[in-house]
Amino acid sequence: EGYDLLVVGSANADLVIGVQRRPAAGETVLGSDLVTHPGGKGGNQAVAAARLGARTALLARIGDDAHGRLLLDTQRAAGVDTVGVLVGGAPTGVALITVDPSGDNSIVVSPGANARLTPGDIHAASALLAAATVVSLQLEIPLETVAATVRAVGPGTRVVLNPSPPALLPSDVLAACDPLVANEHEARYLLADHPASEDADPAAWATALLARGSRSVVITLGAAGALVADRRGHVHIPSEPVDAVDTTGAGDAFTGALAWRLGVGDDLESAVRFAVRVGAVAVTRPGAQQSFPTAAEVTAPGE
Ligand code: RIB
Ligand code: NA
Repeated sequence: EGYDLLVVGSANADLVIGVQRRPAAGETVLGSDLVTHPGGKGGNQAVAAARLGARTALLARIGDDAHGRLLLDTQRAAGVDTVGVLVGGAPTGVALITVDPSGDNSIVVSPGANARLTPGDIHAASALLAAATVVSLQLEIPLETVAATVRAVGPGTRVVLNPSPPALLPSDVLAACDPLVANEHEARYLLADHPASEDADPAAWATALLARGSRSVVITLGAAGALVADRRGHVHIPSEPVDAVDTTGAGDAFTGALAWRLGVGDDLESAVRFAVRVGAVAVTRPGAQQSFPTAAEVTAPGE
């Protein structure tokens, strides 16, 4: 019994419009038909892991509304245990997303119920925390709730944290990250007052984040794969080339897959190698959760 992975984080309804190009301030552009997908960085990670076969639970808050019901249904259909999904307090979180022809996206999030996930909610879910091998967090819920989660997990529980959208982390939260999973933008943000933020080399960011206290660091590099670093050194894991259609949620698929592999005993480098392949599949298909692969769809390099 128990969970390989407990995701503590956000669940959003993603309202997506394809555009030829993004509007500038004061400008209007016409886009495609609206599609509504289940999303949110927490919900995405949970679905990614469960679809790969992980025993996964989600601790989150949604509204008592149609978007919330969509999110609950899709989590359950993917095999996520939703006993920790709380309902009420505000409308379900919404992400307004535009996707351009290159597959890149811009996102505005209204946190809604996600902003009402409190430290008290975390303490009330102590049985869920105790049952998980790995706890994975992002920053679409209040920072005080993230900190309360990190402080509530036992010493045997591994913490994975993606600082997205970026915010500065309390030092004890950073010190619990094993790994911190950051893209270029997030890494530079966390190092804003550090000379390494001016460096072009991801290894310099990783080294600086380790010096700040993180136990290990993974820098995601998009099409270039990822860099893995701990106190013994760093290694670059390349990605197979793919044709990107929609990168929305690919980072969440990467992190969910990584957290799951750590939860079943992989070392960090092996877990990142697997997660890079999961992220590469996710970008070749539209949408976030609907684009995430099963384990059978994640081929070995060169296959
Ligand atoms: O990381 C992608 C996610 O960010 C989307 O699903 C959207 O909900 C926003 O939270
Ligand atoms: Na995708």
